[in-house]
Amino acid sequence: MALMEVKDLTMLFGGITAVNHLDFEVAEGSITALIGPNGAGKTATFNCLTGFYVPTSGEILFEGESLVNVPPHKITDRGIIRTFQNVRLFNNLTVMDNVMSGCHSISKKFVGSALLRTPSERREEAEIKRIAEEALDYIGILDLKDEIAKNLPYGTQRRVEWARAIASKPKLLLLDEPAAGLNRQEKGELVELINRFRDELGMTVFLIEHDMGMVMKVAEKIIVINFGTKISEGTPKEVQDDPLVVEAYLGKEEEEEAV
Ligand SMILES: Nc1ncnc2c1ncn2[C@@H]1O[C@H](COP(=O)(O)OP(=O)(O)OP(=O)(O)O)[C@@H](O)[C@H]1O
Ligand SMILES: [Mg+2]
Repeated sequence: MALMEVKDLTMLFGGITAVNHLDFEVAEGSITALIGPNGAGKTATFNCLTGFYVPTSGEILFEGESLVNVPPHKITDRGIIRTFQNVRLFNNLTVMDNVMSGCHSISKKFVGSALLRTPSERREEAEIKRIAEEALDYIGILDLKDEIAKNLPYGTQRRVEWARAIASKPKLLLLDEPAAGLNRQEKGELVELINRFRDELGMTVFLIEHDMGMVMKVAEKIIVINFGTKISEGTPKEVQDDPLVVEAYLGKEEEEEAV
């Protein structure tokens, strides 16, 4: 069954067509990948799915209900959480506070402040702390909970983001290039984690990724876009063997060589 259905999605910016009549589905319980050369419209697509952009036209259905014109926080409430292409942590806050900020019932007053609270607020805060610790433990970085985010190595900052993302127990987890900047070992650990998110936590995972080795390993279905348009879709093997995909990527390499 489709958890998310994207129908004829188009996103224009002035004269630029970032997303062009895109149709695809993300099956419930799947690990699906969106790939394509630089500037293909992958992040713009994610921005439409998460309410950061209002599409020019088209429909996005999640559990059968439209997400078009729904603000980002309401989309979060429906169970869709994303990570960004670049690390976006609160640099001067602790790992714990960063993860607590992702528990979607949280209100800002609980982060990093010591205001007087009512007993019910204190109970809520304790519950949020418990959930954040559970997420950090799951990702394997509970021992770093009191560290300041900016002092951590890049790969660990990425992990903090994943902990924050899973803390609110999303139905659909969107990851924008989660392997970017990670070393080989970290990429292997990421593949393992993504499988655990799906198998143990019951999440559906939809990821954008540039690292082909990783995509082929982790995704069951791959959607390939170029210039905002879908050019291929299928299993890793089907997509890999598709001449249109080979051309899209080789074309890019030739361009890079010419620079
Ligand atoms: N807010 C915006 N305003 C104007 N143009 C935009 C905006 N967002 C994206 N674009 C344009 O849309 C196109 C697709 O960009 P997008 O960031 O989605 O590509 P991408 O596939 O994620 O690329 P990369 O692999 O480099 O991250 C690009 O031409 C980009 O410049
Ligand atoms: Mg992008």
